[in-house]
Amino acid sequence: MYSILLTAWVPEEYLRPYRDTYHIVCPEPGRHISGQDLMDEIKNYHALFALGVQIDKEIIDKGERLKVIGNFGVGTDNIDVVYAKAKGISVVNTPSAVSDATAEHAIALMMSVMRGIVRFDGEIRQGVWFNEAFSDRNSGISGKTLGIIGMGRIGKLVCKKAQGLGMNCVYYNRSRLEGMEEMKYNTSYLELDELLKISDCITLHLPYSKESRHMAAEEFFSKMKREAYFINTSRGKVVDEAALVNALKQKEIKGAGLDVFEQEPNVSKELLEMVNVVLTPHVASNTLETRINMVNEALGGIIGVLEGRHVDNIV
Ligand code: DGY
Repeated sequence: MYSILLTAWVPEEYLRPYRDTYHIVCPEPGRHISGQDLMDEIKNYHALFALGVQIDKEIIDKGERLKVIGNFGVGTDNIDVVYAKAKGISVVNTPSAVSDATAEHAIALMMSVMRGIVRFDGEIRQGVWFNEAFSDRNSGISGKTLGIIGMGRIGKLVCKKAQGLGMNCVYYNRSRLEGMEEMKYNTSYLELDELLKISDCITLHLPYSKESRHMAAEEFFSKMKREAYFINTSRGKVVDEAALVNALKQKEIKGAGLDVFEQEPNVSKELLEMVNVVLTPHVASNTLETRINMVNEALGGIIGVLEGRHVDNIV
């Protein structure tokens, strides 16, 4: 019987369907297995299901029987994928499960910040009834241009949803989509500088890597329109957070909606004090339906690899 170790608690009801066929071990609620405990344990398992932990070379080396690592999320920057693969260990993730939820969250952040929802909500709770007839504290959405950076699964879903709100969508991606796909998504490719120059809102949907680190830094923000907004639901380290804070302070951009931060769980103090910024604690995929789908997608991939089948969610 194959044995699978989970690094964090998953409610029993979601594991039960797998229990007859696999030996699954998972910690008690609120507990995590990481660091030395994980290094001591991992040698006994064929598969590791990584929920919110860093899996580096040292841990991989201890996995004498390890055949596959499943990640609870689409972003695998917490796993040394290159090293795992070099050792013949497959890595699987959850691209299908998280895409819609993440795209939805990007749209929700965009709407919240552009329409001033969180700011108005905060004021009304404090007894302030905003009644300036002509103010420039928020922006409309319909007819505006959304610049999507990273046109993978999530970027494409954002594109569709934003078009439903009446936005025009343009994109930048490492490789340009095929003509038919551009037609299908009714979008056009722009070089990054051009996209920054014309977009009323920019949203990031690209993985973190050495190449994408601090892609959005001082120069990036200085090229955006002063009345544009910035949304990030990808990875915090893709953004130079100090440069973003500075751009907001200097009014180089109008506002931001952020689900991810450079030093999670720490958030720049200045961001916490800004009224034109909406912040959420890396919860884009955190709905119960999505989380259940993520468990099933990751376990499905793990089991597929263990049983020698082709799996779609291999990294
Ligand atoms: C992902 O899917 O990578 C999300 O950030 C969840 O952690």
